[in-house]
Amino acid sequence: MKVLIIGGGSMGYTFAESFLSSHVIRPNDLTILDHNTQRIELLMRQLKANIETKPDNFISEQDLIVLAVKPQDSEKLCNHIRTFIKPNQVVLSIMAGVKMATLQNALGLSKIIRAMPNLPAQVGMGMTAFTASDEVSRHELIEVQNLLSTTGRAIYFEREDMIDAATAVSGSGPAYVYYFMQNMIDAATQIGFSESQAELMVWQTMLGALHLHNKSNLSCNEWIKRVASKGGTTEAALNVFNQNQMSDTIQQGIKAAFDRAEELGR
Ligand SMILES: NC(=O)c1ccc[n+]([C@@H]2O[C@H](COP(=O)([O-])OP(=O)(O)OC[C@H]3O[C@@H](n4cnc5c(N)ncnc54)[C@H](OP(=O)(O)O)[C@@H]3O)[C@@H](O)[C@H]2O)c1
Repeated sequence: MKVLIIGGGSMGYTFAESFLSSHVIRPNDLTILDHNTQRIELLMRQLKANIETKPDNFISEQDLIVLAVKPQDSEKLCNHIRTFIKPNQVVLSIMAGVKMATLQNALGLSKIIRAMPNLPAQVGMGMTAFTASDEVSRHELIEVQNLLSTTGRAIYFEREDMIDAATAVSGSGPAYVYYFMQNMIDAATQIGFSESQAELMVWQTMLGALHLHNKSNLSCNEWIKRVASKGGTTEAALNVFNQNQMSDTIQQGIKAAFDRAEELGR
């Protein structure tokens, strides 16, 4: 399968690296198009793939075209590439908020797959939600799912609005985890640990808790009960979290991210 990635920035580069290192795509079959001079130099140095700097006939030869530019650059990009697009090509867009119908109109084709990856894709631990227009065949969908799976786990949704919902949960999710960890680190330094000691303790606690959870079928609430004994230290902390309505705050935050994702898409 011949794949073109347009936009060799943070996500485009991650996708290219994952496709190649997993051997799902051969270097000769991968092309990256970017117009940023500095980025092109880096791509040429670090990736074994064809690098292009301007749209041209090579676009028409691709089986899959991945759109990985910022959402605000989408319209301009579509205008630049539209003349080279063939109606039966498949486009995979990872641009947040850009609707499939918008891309179908802008590019003059019908086969669109829209995906929302997240940053841990950089280490093969990503979570990608994806959906597809009706015209994409089962075979094409499976091929794209295989590609997405090289960056971690991928989950398919029938409804496109679930991609905005996924943006609020897994797309933004790594930042919520880092926010919680940073606050644990700050609290640890306040009760006497050095910055590096606090970081080590929080990172390892987070990793350990995740691995433990992974190895069992207990829910988060069940694990909480196992750590928190009656009248103990964990319960003292959880009581303060509850008194300050931390659950409500987290749920409201994720709802706000969802509302914003929908707003950006309009
Ligand atoms: N980063 C994430 O964690 C993440 C997560 C989920 C989804 N996404 C989505 O992934 C997409 C890419 O994000 P990113 O963070 O990788 O962006 P990025 O680092 O800014 O990369 C985009 C690259 O595309 C280039 N570009 C822009 N317009 C172009 C055009 N018309 N022709 C050729 N190259 C062009 C940019 O160059 P210039 O900068 O010079 O314009 C830049 O090198 C976004 O739509 C975002 O919503 C990102």
